[in-house]
Amino acid sequence: MPDPVRVGVVGLGTVGSGVVRLLVDSADHITRHAGRPIVVERAVCRDVGRDRGLKLAPDRVSTDIRTISRDPSISVAALLVGGLEPARSMMIDLLENGKDVVTANKALLAEHGPELFELARKKGRSIAFEAAVAGGIPIVAAIGECLAANRIDSIRGILNGTSNFILSTMEEEGADYADVLALAQAKGYAEADPSMDVDGTDATQKLAILAHLAFGVWVPWAEIPRTGIEGVDSDLMASAAELGYRIRLVAIASRSDDRLAMRVAPALVKIGTPLAETRGAFNAVSIVGDAVGRMFFHGLGAGQMPTASAVVADIIDTVVGRAAITFRTTGVLDAESSAARVVGADMVQKHFLRVHVDDRPGVLSRITGILGEHGISIASVIQRDPAGVGGVPLVIMTHACGTNAVAKAVAHIDASDVVSGTTVCLGVLDD
Ligand code: HSE
Repeated sequence: MPDPVRVGVVGLGTVGSGVVRLLVDSADHITRHAGRPIVVERAVCRDVGRDRGLKLAPDRVSTDIRTISRDPSISVAALLVGGLEPARSMMIDLLENGKDVVTANKALLAEHGPELFELARKKGRSIAFEAAVAGGIPIVAAIGECLAANRIDSIRGILNGTSNFILSTMEEEGADYADVLALAQAKGYAEADPSMDVDGTDATQKLAILAHLAFGVWVPWAEIPRTGIEGVDSDLMASAAELGYRIRLVAIASRSDDRLAMRVAPALVKIGTPLAETRGAFNAVSIVGDAVGRMFFHGLGAGQMPTASAVVADIIDTVVGRAAITFRTTGVLDAESSAARVVGADMVQKHFLRVHVDDRPGVLSRITGILGEHGISIASVIQRDPAGVGGVPLVIMTHACGTNAVAKAVAHIDASDVVSGTTVCLGVLDD
């Protein structure tokens, strides 16, 4: 049997602990795949004294990244700390000292990907990041390798397990938003700062990484239009259900000719379609390639062992040399990037509007008139008898129209004197 490969694990939180557990518990199986044993030589974490129930001798664990980066016996490091710093400095230290890196940190790659990839290439090292997007789903390999023959036309995905868990549990159990968020945190789905899950930041960072792989363009994630799930309540879910839809947080990147439109926002997805049937902490990604057509990927996108599954697969790929080859070809589309210009969020799709209006004569025609002035055609309108005094919700489904035109019409509606509150406007996906 060849000598073991020695790995350093940076971060022993939910994912890091899962990775150590998997490498130890499945050692024989992993050895067969890698052709040699893979052992955790050292780990680095903030709280050395904490008992995590791991088979890791205390003298192998420290708080100092240099115990891994300066150890010549270690060739691969799994960087499993979240956030930008010290993660960025640690990644640079590891690369500078000749380590191949595997990471689950999507925030780091979305923010500093170009700089870190360039450094890795300069140093002849690889960065593998399957676990950074959609947890256990092998979507990075699918886009970067398996679908390499295709020009990708669009990516649509539920990329955040926590927000999907919240939406589907509220919808199925009528549960309270705050209670479900606390449960998602207890289950280890949520980020250290869960506002990044619910405000769409996490999904947007993942979309930025997928866009780099699929379209060869590094879009600064903060420039991608983003709306979180904070405004989704049970009334909205009931209105969507009445029309045959569920609400999901959907990340979209879609190319037409040389233009790339991207956005992350809650959307109505038709009941019975794969995105609508994606529940709990599951993620889903639908990709359209010009040769393969539409493909659908589904699996657990958050949680300890699904994410560890992706990290350990990347470690094996690094050990056998596959990661180096894949990483070299990750940037091949970059030269084409000028061909895919981001033009913002304008996409042609059906829209769902919920407008809170005064219940008096002429109001409906005012609203439909404003939509007409912006070239928006209405497919259906629902207005129920008011339960009491005050305004009534008007639910409008449009025919396909541009998101920019709808946004302008909504601003006009909200500025009129017949509405109270802010209009909710969501895209509608029928397939
Ligand atoms: N907080 C993330 C999620 C974990 O809920 O999807 C995986 O990136």
